[in-house]
Amino acid sequence: MAAKIYTITSGKGGTGKSIFAVNLAAALAGLAKKTLLIDADLGMSNIGLMLGLENSKITLHEVLADEANVADALYDGPNGLKVLPCGISLQGFKKADPARLKDVIAEVSPNFEFIIIDTATGINHVTASSIEVCDEVIMVLTPEITSITDGSKMRVFSTMLGKEVTGIVLNRTMPVHDEIYREKLVSSVDMNILEVLPEDVSIPNSIAGKSPVVTKYPYSEISIAMNRLAALLCGIKMPEPEEGKPQKKQKNEKKRVVAAKLPFSQSKK
Ligand SMILES: Nc1ncnc2c1ncn2[C@@H]1O[C@H](COP(=O)(O)OP(=O)(O)OP(=O)(O)O)[C@@H](O)[C@H]1O
Ligand SMILES: [Mg+2]
Repeated sequence: MAAKIYTITSGKGGTGKSIFAVNLAAALAGLAKKTLLIDADLGMSNIGLMLGLENSKITLHEVLADEANVADALYDGPNGLKVLPCGISLQGFKKADPARLKDVIAEVSPNFEFIIIDTATGINHVTASSIEVCDEVIMVLTPEITSITDGSKMRVFSTMLGKEVTGIVLNRTMPVHDEIYREKLVSSVDMNILEVLPEDVSIPNSIAGKSPVVTKYPYSEISIAMNRLAALLCGIKMPEPEEGKPQKKQKNEKKRVVAAKLPFSQSKK
């Protein structure tokens, strides 16, 4: 068995790559797929914090510095997920050799069905090492022209490294970002939208609770979308919520940020 490896990127920082990587990995694990989540953001890692693994002594830093075995850097996450977190120290960043990531992947790949790699922001050697080892690239972008434009540049970078972008996950959408708005926004970059994730207060709540939203608020709109995408990657058709039993509403489920009207949404009329 060799794992299917997805690397999660963006052009701009802060688009939601890490939170998406955590939740996609947890959703895949929830579908009983053997899944490994790797935090390859060597300089600004966040996944340990998001999953309560921030005190892990042996991390990807030590593995990439050839000071530890990868087996000793794997930790248990939700739904049976395995997590390879990254340290947060600058010394750890300095000693880690990103070129060794391919050896780490070669070692762990036979034990998993999916590997999800969270990357750093921007065009640099750390990001390149994560893209080079993957089968497919998923880009997490926000519905703004700046994010889409930088994402387009990242796509060119991926192509230069021999990896095509499978599609975009459009994150932090609000009611004003209707389908027409979204289509116009991405039409210029000719990339496929895989899934649309709403701005959702359950995300910061789940980060505060150090749990993925798919396990903490499984009935939220964003969790349903994450699970739908995970199922798509597994080739499984998920029943839409209305096909199954009624969904339980979470406390914060309906709290969305209401934004001012944006130009593209007006063109609907
Ligand atoms: N759908 C969402 N709804 C509400 N908040 C969100 C959503 N997605 C992300 N966020 C918030 O955006 C912030 C950035 O998310 P995250 O750290 O996952 O981005 P990133 O792309 O990994 O950032 P970086 O480029 O720094 O690695 C977080 O504080 C998170 O709470
Ligand atoms: Mg991140």
